[in-house]
Amino acid sequence: MKGCAPWDAEAAARIIEEHRGRQGAALPILRALQECFGYVDKAAVPMIADALNVSKAEIHGIITFYHDFRAAPVDGDVLKLCRAESCQAMGCEDLVAHLAAEHRIVADQHSPGATLRVETVYCLGNCALSPAALLNGDPVGRLNRSRIDSIVHDASGGA
Ligand code: FES
Repeated sequence: MKGCAPWDAEAAARIIEEHRGRQGAALPILRALQECFGYVDKAAVPMIADALNVSKAEIHGIITFYHDFRAAPVDGDVLKLCRAESCQAMGCEDLVAHLAAEHRIVADQHSPGATLRVETVYCLGNCALSPAALLNGDPVGRLNRSRIDSIVHDASGGA
């Protein structure tokens, strides 16, 4: 995982300060916090609201509207699997079914005991390498069942 986890209020304050002058600053701040810590800690909500002079409800609304933001750290690896048109044509839904059937990992759900979390995204701009994904932020392409099996295997530490 890239980033600067665990949660650190001072680091968060620096990130907020860095982005607060931008147009529509809430989104870039939230993205930067998640990139750094792997999630958006609830303690960040009042900090962002104060910095941008908006209500906490407004910030909370943005977090819940964009499903990409996580409220808690993720244990293990994150595979953001594209399920948009080109990747669908190249079999991403088969990979989703394979993950569920063979590895008991259900996309966009907490899968107890799994060290890989699979999240749906829609077009990563990497359609030429469909089915495409981001593994802990790094692009991976031309996925197939055996590459998915290796990703799951590696996420579990090779167990
Ligand atoms: S449709 Fe999947 S990367 Fe574009």
